[in-house]
Formats: sequence, structure tokens, C-alpha cells
Amino acid sequence: MSLDLHSWSNELGTLYDHAWQRLVRGVHDRHAPARHPTLATVSPDGLPKARTVVLRAADKSLGRLEIHTNLHSSKIADLMARPLAALHVWDNGSRLQIRVEADVEIASGADVAHTWARVPDRSRTAYSSSHTPGHPIPSALAYDNAPDPSVFAVLHLNIRSLDLLHLGSDHRRAQFTRENGWAGQWLVP
Ligand SMILES: Cc1cc2nc3c(=O)[nH]c(=O)nc-3n(C[C@H](O)[C@H](O)[C@H](O)COP(=O)(O)O)c2cc1C
Repeated sequence: MSLDLHSWSNELGTLYDHAWQRLVRGVHDRHAPARHPTLATVSPDGLPKARTVVLRAADKSLGRLEIHTNLHSSKIADLMARPLAALHVWDNGSRLQIRVEADVEIASGADVAHTWARVPDRSRTAYSSSHTPGHPIPSALAYDNAPDPSVFAVLHLNIRSLDLLHLGSDHRRAQFTRENGWAGQWLVP
């Protein structure tokens, strides 16, 4: 795609809209760059932790993203200690880096029963209570895949700020915060 076509990057409003379009596309298109963002948390002992996740929902009007996970995974312990996360996407087609900082709410049990009902069987195997993800096992496949809805968790990322960097013939960077009503501020790239 020619960089000349990236006229959306010229204005704060169109840059913001484009970033949300790309996030929403990640939810619906398994081949889109935003399908697999990197989610970063801080462990209880203060170490940065990053891992690939699937973006499950993106709501521009609420400034909210959704990720599904296993309640026993270590990211949950991180988020219980500090309910804050960063999310990162590099969208090469748009030459756009999207960085999100968010407050995170963890939902599980009856609160997510309606979401669990829509999780396909092939995805449900990630939510097994037989072993904690990251637990040592005697051989590579010594774990069980039996789905258990009680370990299914939904992470709601309530976005504090979006930092967008576009690489074009001129680079542009802007930050959008909930605090300023997503108005946007240009930054030195
Ligand atoms: C392509 C891909 C998609 C993934 N999607 C998710 C996901 O949506 N949720 C999740 O909890 N882990 C997902 N994982 C696994 C995580 O990267 C990670 O290994 C696991 O959640 C344990 O992380 P933790 O110990 O830091 O909590 C995915 C991994 C890959 C490679």
C-alpha cells in the first residue's frame, strides 16, 4: 500500500478513527495484525511480563477491549496485584504502532456465562483446570484439555491512553487519553 494513501494519519481525528478500525478488524479477521496483540503486565515481584493474546472485542464508544484467559494463568496474579496492563500492536499494512495503557477488570463465573456459551469447542480446551498454565510437567503432553468454565476469565481493558505512531514519509505520533475525551495530542515521534 502506498504511503500516499495514508492520509488518515494527517489529522488527529482520522488517525484515532483508523486505529480503532484496525483494532475492530482484529476481532473479526483472524489474519489481521490486531488479532494477536502483545499483552504486558507487571508480576507481583515487579518484573515486566509480555505474551501474545487474541483480541476478542473492541468497543470504541466505551474505549474498551476484551481478552479471554485462564483464571489460573500467571497474568491473573499479576493483574490481581496491579490491575494495569499495556497492549501492543504493530500493523505493518497501516505502518501503525498502537500502544494501549489500560485499567483491567477481571470477570469470571456467572458474570461470563453468556460469553462462555459463545466460545467454540476448539477454543475451550485452553480453559482447563487440570493444571495451572506454566506448571512443571514430567513430559511435553502430560496435561489435560478438559474444558472447565469455572477457570474461564474475561479481561476488560478500560483504556486510559492510546499512543499511535505512524511511519510515513514524515513520521507522526499522537496520544489520546480518556481524561481529555480522546481529543488527542501530537507528540514528537
Ligand atoms: C497466537 C497465540 C494466541 C494466544 N492467545 C491467548 C489468549 O487469547 N489468552 C491467553 O490467556 N493466552 C493466549 N495465548 C497464550 C499466551 O501467550 C501465554 O502463553 C499464556 O496465556 C500464559 O501466559 P501467562 O503465564 O503470562 O499468564 C496465546 C498464544 C499464542 C501464541
